Amino acid sequence: MIPTRGCRMSPISNYKCLVCVAVVCVVFTESIEAQTTRPIIGILSQKSYDQLAKYGPSYIAASYVKFLESGGARAVLIPVNQTNDYYTNLFNSINGILFPGGTQYVDDSSYGTAGQILYNLAIKANDGGDFFPLWGTCLGHELLTYVTAGKNLLANTNAHDVLYPVHFTKDFRSSRLFRLMPDKMVNILANQNITYNHHRFGLTPQNYTKNEKLRNFYQIISTSKDEDGLEFISIMEAYKYPFYGVQWHPEKNNFEWMRTQNVNHSEDAVLISEYLANFFVEEARKSSHKFSSTAEELAALSYSYTPIYTGKNTNFQQCYFLSD
Ligand SMILES: *[C@@H]1O[C@H](CO)[C@@H](O)[C@H](O)[C@H]1NC(C)=O
Ligand SMILES: *[C@@H]1O[C@H](CO)[C@@H](O)[C@H](O)[C@H]1NC(C)=O
Ligand SMILES: *[C@@H]1O[C@H](CO)[C@@H](O)[C@H](O)[C@H]1NC(C)=O
Ligand SMILES: *[C@@H]1O[C@H](CO)[C@@H](O)[C@H](O)[C@H]1NC(C)=O
Repeated sequence: MIPTRGCRMSPISNYKCLVCVAVVCVVFTESIEAQTTRPIIGILSQKSYDQLAKYGPSYIAASYVKFLESGGARAVLIPVNQTNDYYTNLFNSINGILFPGGTQYVDDSSYGTAGQILYNLAIKANDGGDFFPLWGTCLGHELLTYVTAGKNLLANTNAHDVLYPVHFTKDFRSSRLFRLMPDKMVNILANQNITYNHHRFGLTPQNYTKNEKLRNFYQIISTSKDEDGLEFISIMEAYKYPFYGVQWHPEKNNFEWMRTQNVNHSEDAVLISEYLANFFVEEARKSSHKFSSTAEELAALSYSYTPIYTGKNTNFQQCYFLSD
């Protein structure tokens, strides 16, 4: 292999680089080294629905904070309805963003508006060589499809409170997410009912294939089928950006305990959740963003908020509430 500028070889990472010397083109992998062992990841909040509105105008389910903490990160709660300057400043301070699940419309909500701004910042940063990962869970996964396509291509799905296995695509092992996952864990996902689905919408392989932007941007890693047999993308990642989407809820296996919900709490299910948390947090360690002062960092971290017990009348054991 010809040594070249800009791309370094590594056995542990596979960001693809296309390097052309005269008429010879070589594709090989680029390694991005960890920049920090103290990663901080933002989680986007959303407007509180009925049962939560009495506690505060917007919320984040604490299970997302715990999910990131389980991977070795700390969390920052991101308010909606802020200025571009606010988001830019926060973006430059954190090492990744998680777009959580919820009940908003991706194309008509304060969650969607903030998500679009943060996504644009992440695209611009990565394009400029400033590594910055995004993770979308359920609604967050749907948001990723919306902002990448520039339009809402989601179909209605019938997948409420149900567990599904995932069906891996032929080349799923070429993805970064699954390149190193042990066969045992791949088999858990493929053969057991551990992915918890609770969504009104989903991206079908048909709409993905029809849309050039989506097709060129994301690799489909797996699909699942809803109660009516409709196939939807259950796991995806971007080819050239450290962006990941899961239509189901890995954070619930270890952190949500509503008795009326079908969440799978088996050892195998928890193993998968932990793998994904570890994976995403390791991506965040590759970002060099930091807060401009320790005081600013401490004020932003979730530790300066107190989660409230909401397990009696909502699907979340605990939630954080923000004043915006
Ligand atoms: C954000 O702004 C929108 C539009 O002004 C408003 O409807 C909403 O209540 C605000 N707050 C949240 C948390 O969305
Ligand atoms: C494709 O997207 C449209 C929205 O633009 C949606 O109404 C339709 O159900 C989707 N079709 C499939 C097969 O996903
Ligand atoms: C998963 O659950 C469905 C019912 O929702 C059942 O029909 C199916 O056999 C289960 N699959 C596995 C692998 O347990
Ligand atoms: C959870 O998954 C385990 C296997 O990991 C399976 O034995 C069990 O039936 C599942 N629980 C539910 C509620 O589907």
